[in-house]
Amino acid sequence: MNTPDMSEWWEERRRQRLEAFRNRRPVELRHKGDLRDEIADWGSRLFDHTARNLVLLGPTGTGKTWSVWEVLERALAVGYPGHIMLLAAAEWQEIVGPPVDRERVRQMREADVLVLDDFGSFRINEWTKDVIGPVIDWRWAPAMPIVVTSNMADLVTPLGERIASRLGHRATVVALTGEDRRAQ
Ligand SMILES: Nc1ncnc2c1ncn2[C@@H]1O[C@H](COP(=O)(O)OP(=O)(O)O)[C@@H](O)[C@H]1O
Ligand SMILES: [Mg+2]
Repeated sequence: MNTPDMSEWWEERRRQRLEAFRNRRPVELRHKGDLRDEIADWGSRLFDHTARNLVLLGPTGTGKTWSVWEVLERALAVGYPGHIMLLAAAEWQEIVGPPVDRERVRQMREADVLVLDDFGSFRINEWTKDVIGPVIDWRWAPAMPIVVTSNMADLVTPLGERIASRLGHRATVVALTGEDRRAQ
């Protein structure tokens, strides 16, 4: 008897996951463009689980959110099999704000890649910190990557020393610069 051919199954799975991600990618973030090398490198390190946290800093319109979609789409295109939880600011604020959505906080702990977009677009208050802090803490020990984007200069003030140091530990930190692309 022939052994079943799994490669076809994997290829179909890869294609479906990529398509689902592309459909979810916001229209205004679908531009073709160049990804910063450090960010592309981080994406390639997802495959052997050596990618730690990714922190993208910079003013509004410099391509932080675009870079996140782009690097993850490229990873899926070449077969990254992990579960990605990509949350816009409004989404994660809704999850962590009172009443806390416990089930989705659990998913935030367990996703292979967790993206928290736009740290600082909302005030991170004590409540938010109390919910987000343990998620960052939990993911630190097994080195499950978190991607954070922010237009704030530092994350220590809003997050506190302990949590900020977990987030920054061996992280790839990239400062994006330039004009606001949306204003062009
Ligand atoms: N490297 C790039 N190439 C082409 N378009 C880009 C690039 N980076 C960002 N953009 C576009 O510029 C706009 C602003 O980018 P965005 O990621 O929303 O900025 P930020 O998150 O830093 O505020 C978006 O429409 C995005 O598609
Ligand atoms: Mg953004």
